[in-house]
Amino acid sequence: MYCVICILLASAVEALDVKPQRELYTPDYRIYHNVSEISRKLRDLIAKYPSFIREHETSQRSRNGLKQFVLQITNFESHHQNKTAKILMSFGEHAREFLPVETLFYLIYQLLPPRSAINLSNFEIYAIALANPDGRLYVEKSKNYCWRGTYPSGVDINRNFEWEFGGKGSSGDKNDEEYRGPYPFSEPETIIYKELTDKIHFDGFLSLHSGTRHIYIPYADTESQRLRRTHENEKEMRTLAWEMSTATKHKYLYGKAIDLTKYTADGTIFDFMAGVKNISFSYAIELWGRKFSKSPSCFDLFNPPNDQLEKVVQEIYQVYVKFLNGILNWKRNRENQAHYIQAIAQLNIPYLIPDAMDAPTMESSLLTVGVLFVLICVILVNERHFLFRRVFFK
Ligand SMILES: *[C@@H]1O[C@H](CO)[C@@H](O)[C@H](O)[C@H]1NC(C)=O
Ligand SMILES: *[C@@H]1O[C@H](CO)[C@@H](O)[C@H](O)[C@H]1NC(C)=O
Ligand SMILES: *[C@@H]1O[C@H](CO)[C@@H](O)[C@H](O)[C@H]1NC(C)=O
Ligand SMILES: *[C@@H]1O[C@H](CO)[C@@H](O)[C@H](O)[C@H]1NC(C)=O
Ligand SMILES: [Zn+2]
Repeated sequence: MYCVICILLASAVEALDVKPQRELYTPDYRIYHNVSEISRKLRDLIAKYPSFIREHETSQRSRNGLKQFVLQITNFESHHQNKTAKILMSFGEHAREFLPVETLFYLIYQLLPPRSAINLSNFEIYAIALANPDGRLYVEKSKNYCWRGTYPSGVDINRNFEWEFGGKGSSGDKNDEEYRGPYPFSEPETIIYKELTDKIHFDGFLSLHSGTRHIYIPYADTESQRLRRTHENEKEMRTLAWEMSTATKHKYLYGKAIDLTKYTADGTIFDFMAGVKNISFSYAIELWGRKFSKSPSCFDLFNPPNDQLEKVVQEIYQVYVKFLNGILNWKRNRENQAHYIQAIAQLNIPYLIPDAMDAPTMESSLLTVGVLFVLICVILVNERHFLFRRVFFK
């Protein structure tokens, strides 16, 4: 009897604090950036390349007062605000997923001189570099590589958003790793997302994670699953997801979140961006995962081994390039079409938008055939009158 109680008590304690298991490998901080290195390197970059990378003035702080580092990356000397593709990217939401932040560093190095891989005059990229610094610092200090939420509240910020908040694809239990927090935007870490999107209308949003290789299209929540809800830009989102999925040899699985996973997720950031902020291209991407893992624990489940990190971030960079260029092309084509329509409207003649010239539908074809048939009948009847008269009244 006592033993049963002991076991119950022990497992209750266990649930309160997920203990690190035996890791296959752990981060080497000469290779992975730790919190202090993230902050030091970002400060250096901001100081060194002021015409390309700046810290956004409303950079928020976490509950424990650490910086999230909200970066603005563009060509500050020559961007045409109304013509740029506006992008928001979110890194480091889940404490134990170190990889996304590493991919940001590689991306920044490619975008800045001397490489200048992409013409930054065409983009305004906002990057929330370390969304959950308290959680991350806790993982580093405690070596509990299983910790996912903020610290010490343990809120999963990717369930704290005002989109189907509180559904069963999240938890009200403070000890659950999908704890949603007491109400939407209850966490200081989530405020910046709201502030930025209240001010700027973004064309694209990425919420970056790791654990497997999936590209999720909205929506992920329980209610959307029930209603089979779709986003109005789903077709375009799917096309770009396919392009991203084939950017590397790994062929990411892509599709609506509710079709790809067995579980639903309520109150997620990317659903909020799609459903509330009407961002045309909003994705959550799981950037990396182990295929044949022998008893993975935590760090090794979410992050590549130290000696493979460089190769992995290089590959993921190709996914980001597809995303950025895809959105720019989409925006330009849309604008060109708008210009075209305006130009023709000014000529004041009837016009057809190329896309609107659909093939005839079933109904309209039948109608045409029907009208022709009636016409022929009328003609024939008239002819008959004429023939009848000739034959019978002669
Ligand atoms: C972070 O990493 C740097 C570089 O490897 C190292 O010098 C420093 O001691 C680390 N800081 C902490 C707090 O572990
Ligand atoms: C940019 O767009 C805004 C709002 O549509 C407009 O008020 C502004 O004049 C535009 N700026 C330029 C340089 O075209
Ligand atoms: C970058 O884009 C801008 C605006 O579209 C253009 O004026 C400029 O010539 C481009 N620069 C390069 C190096 O292609
Ligand atoms: C959402 O965005 C699309 C494309 O930018 C636009 O056509 C549509 O009217 C917007 N819908 C709402 C509800 O704002
Ligand atoms: Zn995650």
